[in-house]
Formats: sequence, C-alpha cells, structure tokens
Amino acid sequence: MHQRAWFADRVREGAVLAPMAGFSDAPFRRLAHHFGAAWAVSEMVSAKALTLPAHDPAGWRISAPYPGEARAVVQLFAAEPELAARAVEQLERAHQPAAFDLNLGCPVRKVINRGCGSELLREPGRAASVLAAMVAAAHVPVSAKLRLGVDRDVAIEVAQALVEAGAAALAVHGRTAHQGYDGHADWDAIARVAAAVPVPVLGSGDVVDVSGYERAKAAGLGVMVARGAIGRPWLFAQLRGAEAPDRDAIVAVLWRHARDHTAWYGGPQPLRRLRGHLAAYAAALAAAPGPRLATEALRAAVVRVDTLDDLRAALLHHARASVDRDLERLAEPWCDLAAAPLLTPPDERHLRAP
Ligand SMILES: Cc1cc2nc3c(=O)[nH]c(=O)nc-3n(C[C@H](O)[C@H](O)[C@H](O)COP(=O)(O)O)c2cc1C
Repeated sequence: MHQRAWFADRVREGAVLAPMAGFSDAPFRRLAHHFGAAWAVSEMVSAKALTLPAHDPAGWRISAPYPGEARAVVQLFAAEPELAARAVEQLERAHQPAAFDLNLGCPVRKVINRGCGSELLREPGRAASVLAAMVAAAHVPVSAKLRLGVDRDVAIEVAQALVEAGAAALAVHGRTAHQGYDGHADWDAIARVAAAVPVPVLGSGDVVDVSGYERAKAAGLGVMVARGAIGRPWLFAQLRGAEAPDRDAIVAVLWRHARDHTAWYGGPQPLRRLRGHLAAYAAALAAAPGPRLATEALRAAVVRVDTLDDLRAALLHHARASVDRDLERLAEPWCDLAAAPLLTPPDERHLRAP
C-alpha cells in the first residue's frame, strides 16, 4: 500500500500517455514528456519472455528507457507471480524504471491464451497474487491497468483486490474486453471504481480534447490518453492550455519524431515501425488551417516510407512542406524541442538481462 505519492503527486500535473503496443516506444514517450505528459507507460512486455534464458532483445528494447527518462513506467503482462517478480527484479537491475504497471486489459488472443491481460479479470485472486509478487520484488511503486471486465462490469471487485495487494494507482479503460473499442468508454463506471478505492484512479477511453479532459478532472479522475495522442503528441500541451500547432509546427514535431525514431532503432528501414504514427500526423496536417491538401495522397505516401529521405520527399511533394526550414523561429513550446539533442540508441548492454 506504500508509494502512492509517486502517482498522486504527478496525476494532477497533466494527462498520462497510455501504454500502446506498437506506439508507446521510447521516441514517442520522449515527445509526450516534452509536451507535458505527467508520465508515460511503455508498450506491454511479456514477463515470461524477459525471464527466459533465450535472449529477448525485442522485450528488452521495449522496456528500455531513453537516456534521461526520469518517469519511465514499464508495463508487464504476466500470469504467474514468480515470473512477474523475476521480471521486475531483472528490469530494476537493467533499467531502473520509476514504476511498474500490470496489464489486465489486453484482449488479444495470443495474450489471453496464456492467462494474461484481460483473462486476469476473471480471477481477481490470481490477479492480486501477480500484483503482490511485483510489489514485493520492486523498490518502486506498482500500478495496474484494467478494463471493466471480460463481458460485464466487475471492475470494483478487481480494483479492490489489486489495491489490497499493494497497487499504488489504477488506470481503468471504461470498456469490457468483449467490447474491444466499440461504443463509448463508460466514465460513470470509472468514477464508481475511484469512489471504491483509496488510490489515484486514472480513466482511459475516448479523451481526445480539452473538454473530455476537463470533464474527467472535474469528476476527480486522472486521465490517460492513448489514440488521441497518436500523430498529435502536442495534445498534452493543449490539455494544459497551449494553442493548437500550425502546419509548420506539426512538420517540425513529426520530423523530430522521425529523426529520434531513426536514431533509436537504426537499420536500413528505420521508419517502417513509425508508419502508424505518420498516417496520423498526415491527418493532423490535413486538418490544420491552410490550403487544402490531397489528404489521401499524403497518407498513402507517408505509409510507404522507409527512411528519412523518403519522408522528406513525401512531405515536400504531397504537403508542400519543407523539413529544412529554420525551426528555431517557431513559437514555444515547439522551439525548445528543436534545440534538444537527438535521442541516442539504447546501450547494447540494455538489450539483454543483466
Ligand atoms: C494500438 C493500441 C495498442 C494498445 N496497447 C495497449 C497495451 O500494450 N497495454 C494496455 O494496457 N493497453 C493498451 N491499449 C489500450 C489503451 O491504453 C487505452 O486504454 C485504449 O486505447 C482506450 O483509450 P483511448 O480511447 O484514449 O485510445 C492499446 C490501445 C491501442 C489503440
């Protein structure tokens, strides 16, 4: 039950970047922090894979903080308490994250077949054992992120079991696993969880603008943002009162993201993994004030890029946007991003168990 303060102190500062497999990697977390996210949760990583004797470079890279990342929160999916505890010990030695998070929401077959993710919602006792093992192994706080249930709302029962086991904060996605992303997130159900437990509760689901954020805050809830921040990482600044960026600023942010991403991943086709983000940036560019853009052509072009040169050409051709303009003249809060050093790739030693 200790260490609630880490989350409680920060949750008031702004919205939190939600864990998103394939999206919430180090380059994106860095941008989110730059724009004022209170903290950012990593993509989920398998406790089992991390602790296997075989090298798991993908898992180690997913959980590696970028240099200077002070608020790294690593999300694990796990079904066995011993493996979860071992993964926590290894990750603390390798990466010293600020906190850990347990996934009780992922509905993907590959994950639930192993008893992980939203399957844990069926067995609050087992979920509590996994979380308690993480708390016992960790020297930093542990949170959990859940959906409302598998096919009906059991969130209060699960939440109380998790808090009893030592969860220092909870994030609740206001949908069941069976709902997937259909319908709307049920923020009344999230508020009922918050009323039933003594730890900070963050709501997750459909917050994409200031009005959604303010509504959640007025209800006394913290806020996690997932899809709304893809291609719009400045949303964290907007939620704290900043103006919407113009096209120059959007290009500056997207170019910076692509350069950091290239530096972090390296390889001959570094931007492949960024294509989902790039499609969303293209939509943001098309929606910003200015001459009409051929949105579909821009989107089709950016989702085919492999390298920075490809991206530069796509932006010039389809958005009449140059990435070589003097970014220093952009208004705050964009310019200090231009001045920040490029991300450096993860240390090779960080890509395996210590
Ligand atoms: C592409 C994608 C990947 C996700 N991956 C994770 C994950 O790894 N762990 C997790 O707890 N939730 C994951 N989620 C769920 C989000 O964190 C969030 O709860 C959900 O998208 C609802 O919030 P939103 O409406 O702001 O997108 C993912 C969602 C998306 C869209």
